[in-house]
Amino acid sequence: PLRPAAPPQPSVAADGLLHDDTPRFVPPAGDRATQLQALRCFIGDCQRCPALVRNRTTIVFGCGNPHAEIMFVGEAPGADEDVQGLPFVGRAGQLLTNIIEKGMHLRRDDVYIANILKCRPPNNREPQPSEVANCTPFLHEQLAIVKPRVIVALGTYAARYLTGSNVPISKLRGTFHQYRGIPVMPTFHPAYLLRNYSPENRRMVWEDMKKVLEYVRG
Ligand code: URA
Repeated sequence: PLRPAAPPQPSVAADGLLHDDTPRFVPPAGDRATQLQALRCFIGDCQRCPALVRNRTTIVFGCGNPHAEIMFVGEAPGADEDVQGLPFVGRAGQLLTNIIEKGMHLRRDDVYIANILKCRPPNNREPQPSEVANCTPFLHEQLAIVKPRVIVALGTYAARYLTGSNVPISKLRGTFHQYRGIPVMPTFHPAYLLRNYSPENRRMVWEDMKKVLEYVRG
């Protein structure tokens, strides 16, 4: 059953300090699939970001292998994802699927795919800092459950959040950074690649994916 997640409620306790009473997710005993399912239930019918709640059809939690070695993290659901409830199923998603399957010779089901935001921003506008702050604790829990060996940060927003750097994606890409001890490879977002489908940009994304494969294959 999906219950609404309570909004964060800072409160003043007897010690006079501010406390954040946001309920914390505690993964249940069980396998990773069970834990991911529990996290999805915990998120419930999240109401934290009013502008997103008004606009969304469904929450796009993420999908893939709970034991994935590689986790891809995008920006936010688009129109197709919002309707289907699955990440990267539109045009950019088809390109990502090709990169994974035809380029990396993996199956899409072998990896895990999620986004910085789990709700579609109105008119695909950029994620707002408060929305990133509200939603990324859930991404962090997904990472803690799946424990990928490497994260691929797709585009500016994922790269910015996961590397903690505001350096442009064109400079961040191509080298490993870290998110809480997990190697992060930033690369261009597939939607950017679609709009700028040059041999040079395709080569750069492929170079980045080769480094990811070399890393996981040791
Ligand atoms: N773009 C993203 O960043 N994520 C999706 O899920 C789809 C498109």
